Amino acid sequence: ALAPGGTPLDFAAIAPVDAEVDEFTVPEGFEWHPVITWGDPLFSDVPEFDWDNQTAEAQKGQFGYNNDYTEIQEIPGSDGLRAVMFCNHEYDNANIMLPPDTSHEDVVTISMAAHGLTVVELERESREHPYSYVIDGELNRRFTFDTDFEFTGPARGSELLVTGTSSDGVTVKGTMSNCAGGLTPWGTLLSGEENFHQYFQGNGGEEQARYGVGDETARRWYDVEPRFDTTNEGFENEPNLFGYIIEVDPWDPTSTPKKHTSLGRFKHEGANVRLAEDGRAIAYSGDDEVFDYLYKFVSRDTYIEGDRAHNMTLLEEGDLFVARFDGNSPSAEIDGSGGVPADGAFDGGGEWLPLVLDGESQVPGFSVEEVLVNTRLAADVLHPTKMDRPEDVEPSPATGLVYIALTKNSDRGTEGEAPVDEANPRAENRDGHVIELDELDDATSTEFGWRILLLCGDPEQNETTYFSGFPPEQVSPISCPDNLAFDSVGNLWISTDGQPGGIGKNDGLFRVTLEGEARGRVEQFLSVPRDAETCGPVIRDEDRTAFVAVQHPGENGEWGAHTSFFPEYEQTGPKPCIVQVLPALAEPDPEPEPTPDP
Ligand code: FEO
Ligand code: CA
Ligand code: CA
Ligand code: CA
Repeated sequence: ALAPGGTPLDFAAIAPVDAEVDEFTVPEGFEWHPVITWGDPLFSDVPEFDWDNQTAEAQKGQFGYNNDYTEIQEIPGSDGLRAVMFCNHEYDNANIMLPPDTSHEDVVTISMAAHGLTVVELERESREHPYSYVIDGELNRRFTFDTDFEFTGPARGSELLVTGTSSDGVTVKGTMSNCAGGLTPWGTLLSGEENFHQYFQGNGGEEQARYGVGDETARRWYDVEPRFDTTNEGFENEPNLFGYIIEVDPWDPTSTPKKHTSLGRFKHEGANVRLAEDGRAIAYSGDDEVFDYLYKFVSRDTYIEGDRAHNMTLLEEGDLFVARFDGNSPSAEIDGSGGVPADGAFDGGGEWLPLVLDGESQVPGFSVEEVLVNTRLAADVLHPTKMDRPEDVEPSPATGLVYIALTKNSDRGTEGEAPVDEANPRAENRDGHVIELDELDDATSTEFGWRILLLCGDPEQNETTYFSGFPPEQVSPISCPDNLAFDSVGNLWISTDGQPGGIGKNDGLFRVTLEGEARGRVEQFLSVPRDAETCGPVIRDEDRTAFVAVQHPGENGEWGAHTSFFPEYEQTGPKPCIVQVLPALAEPDPEPEPTPDP
């Protein structure tokens, strides 16, 4: 019964690993290899990483910190031996990155340089060997706060985007808080600017408050960079420059990356695109906050096979929608306990409520620019469904069904907060859930059906888990679903963020069977080291190899008292790192005995 859906990948699920263990664990018969690690130089004129002599200048040419979303595309004509990798660097953990005697100014400038994105070439000896990265690869590039991005779409050039660092509301320096992302059908990468609020000193405005921009931040970047203090004259709009879906062309190292206003501004987890039957591009995106919403963008123009320049404009103009989920069971049957309703399923219908349609705002009191920059406030007017923290939203290439990871929401159903509903049926939802959305073969549809696939958790600790009817005693415990991926035959893969604090097990990567009798079966494939989160899963080579971004290993430690030493286990502290897992290579034949000279 292994190998669901006919995948060639056969493995015996690993046992969950206790949260104190500082090991990377893979199934029997597999091995793991770091591909690229925080501090690795991308160019030969950049210094090797040195714990005690870090500089912002060096970091700008080295692989950044806290790798998150990762995507790998083979380079055409390379027989699968070369690839280009894209990676987000979401945030820093200055407490374990830098010696404690580092000046505040250096902490700020080095941490800033550790944010952003990386494009880097990979190479390998054969498909059976692990990848390593290529110093000075032609496509290698680091995106930092020095990189120019260009706004597109209806809010490009808007007064709302004019600030001390963008005099025209068109060009802006930098991206940040890049969490998840997606590969477009035309080969570019999307990346979501997520928790940008935590870098800004707020000015008390209502819009800022809805985005969580508040008082003094722990990082205090504004001591060094005035743009991060919105009480500074001219910088009031600075947070409006972040919170977008950006698009990067990894195949052209001279290209200017875009920030697409048409997909709205919120704490974008990421975005994933598919093409509708009529060729329009559909992008799904979650706003990762407790009680926030799920969004869908439908492009105005249609995809043209082979016209890459045109396709790269598809996310610039189109309609934007936010989701309302309607359950089909009586609300009395949704009591917050997680018990399955009498019709046997958490399910129902729903509607995509328009925010922008045919270039016109559909929200009373909001212009199009205001909808796209203050999207959360505009969406509030339409009363969409408040969700349990939407993370990755990803259409299955095999079936067209769309999967939504809802990571958790411990406030659900508590006093003064939104009650449970059929789409978010657990009170104080500690372990999160996964919804399957069905747009009935029309990705442009404004209506959808939906059902819950998994109510996550450890069945031994939580009576309210649900695995679409698969026996709970036969699954790997899983909590806090975050990033999603699919293998070559359409099995769903889920990486988690928050298991250690929830079920007491290290985060990991899991395969979920979607089709047939074993639908709902969860099998753990790997487990990351102590305090780390599993990000950016990629399944490749007909499912023989998997990549994950190991983010914030040892984040609960401090300099000199580290909780992790991953991946080198001999250095001063832990390093975030991209890991490849693949079947162990057979031991090479022993060297033949040298024949003595006659
Ligand atoms: Fe950066 Fe939604 O996690
Ligand atoms: Ca139902
Ligand atoms: Ca995430
Ligand atoms: Ca994450």
